Amino acid sequence: MVVTPWAVTGDIDYGKLIEQFGVQHMTQGIADRIANHAGYMHMQLRRGVYISHRDTDWWLDEYEKGNKVGLYTGRGPSGHVHLGHLLPWFFCKYLQDAFDADLYFQMTDDEKYLFNDHLELEQTIGYTYENALDVIACGLDPSKTHIFSDTEHIQHLYKIGLRVAKRVTYSTAKAVFGFQDSDNIGMIWYPALQAMTCFLQSNREGANIPCLIPAAIDQDPYWRVTRDIAEKLGYYKPAQIHAKFLPGLAEGGKMSASQPETAIFTTDPPKTAARKVMSAFTGGRDTIEEQHKLGGRPNVCNVYAYYYFLFENDDEALMERESACKSGSLICGECKKQLAERVKAFLVDFQAKREKAKHVLDDFLIKPVE
Ligand code: TRP
Repeated sequence: MVVTPWAVTGDIDYGKLIEQFGVQHMTQGIADRIANHAGYMHMQLRRGVYISHRDTDWWLDEYEKGNKVGLYTGRGPSGHVHLGHLLPWFFCKYLQDAFDADLYFQMTDDEKYLFNDHLELEQTIGYTYENALDVIACGLDPSKTHIFSDTEHIQHLYKIGLRVAKRVTYSTAKAVFGFQDSDNIGMIWYPALQAMTCFLQSNREGANIPCLIPAAIDQDPYWRVTRDIAEKLGYYKPAQIHAKFLPGLAEGGKMSASQPETAIFTTDPPKTAARKVMSAFTGGRDTIEEQHKLGGRPNVCNVYAYYYFLFENDDEALMERESACKSGSLICGECKKQLAERVKAFLVDFQAKREKAKHVLDDFLIKPVE
C-alpha cells in the first residue's frame, strides 16, 4: 500500500493509515451532529465514506457557539474529472448548505505542472476551466463559493502564501514530502500554496474563521505541516474530514484517471460509461451455475461499491440488492446492466448542468476583497 499526495496504489488499509497519520476515527456522534444541522443524514455519512478526521468536533463546537465557519477543498487539474472526485464535492455542497459556509475551492494548475513531467502549463490551466464546470455542476451556491486557480488568481494568494512559506523549513518539507535534491524548486514551494488556503478566508475577512477540509486522506501531509504553523500565524489549525477512495472499475486501488478504462469521467459519452460498467470487476463467480449455488461477494465487488457510494440512496433497496447477490439470485450481468442505466441517467443530467455552468463560471470565481 502506498498513499502519498501523488500516488495511491495497492490495497488500502484505512485502519493502518489512521494510525500512521495520527488522525482520529470518525464517530457516530460527529455524523449525528452534522446531520442534525443539515436536517438529514447524507448518504455518505450513513455509509461510512468518511472514516477519519482531525478536530471536526471542534469545528462543530465553534459553529454551535454561533461562530462563522468555513470550508476548503481543491482539485489538481491534471485531466477530466471522474466520479471518485465528485464524492467529496457533493459532500461540500451538503456542508455548505448545512452550515451556511463559504467554500474556497483551489485549482492547483501549478502543482500539476510542477509535479508532472508530461503536462504543460497551458494544459493544466485548460483543465482548471474544464474541472471548474464540474465543481459548479455539483450545485454549489455562487454567493458562497470561491473557485480560484493558483496561476490565474495568484494576486489573491501570494501574500498569505509567503507568510506560510517563511514558517516552513526545508527540512520539514523534506521529512514530510520526501523531496529529493533532483526535484525542481517549484515543488518545494508548492506546499505553501496548498497550506495557505486554510487561512485564506480568515485573511480576507480579517477574522479567525475555523476551516474544515473535506478531502481524501492522501492530502493529510499538507495539513500536518499547516497545523504546525497555524498558531504562529495567528490562525486556528484547520480541521479535516477524510473520505475513502471510490474504487475503480478494475480490481483493487482507487478510481484513477491514469487508467481511463477503469474510471467514469463526467465527460464520457453516457454510452461509453455504460460500456465501462459492463466490463467492470465484480464479486461474481466463474460460472452462472456456481453463482447460483454460492452467491456473489458484494464485499469485494466494485459494481456493488458504486451502488453503495453513489447510485443507491435507498438503504432498503441496497440491502435487498445485497441479499439477492449473496443468495445467487441476482447475477452480475443483470446487476451491471442496472448500474449502467443509472450511470447513463446520471451523466445525462450532470452533463446538462455542466453545460449551464459555462454561462455562470464568473459568478463562482474568487473576487477581490471589498
Ligand atoms: N493536491 C490536490 C490534488 O492533487 C489538490 C488540492 C489542493 C486539494 N488543495 C486541496 C485537495 C484541498 C483536497 C483539499 O488533487
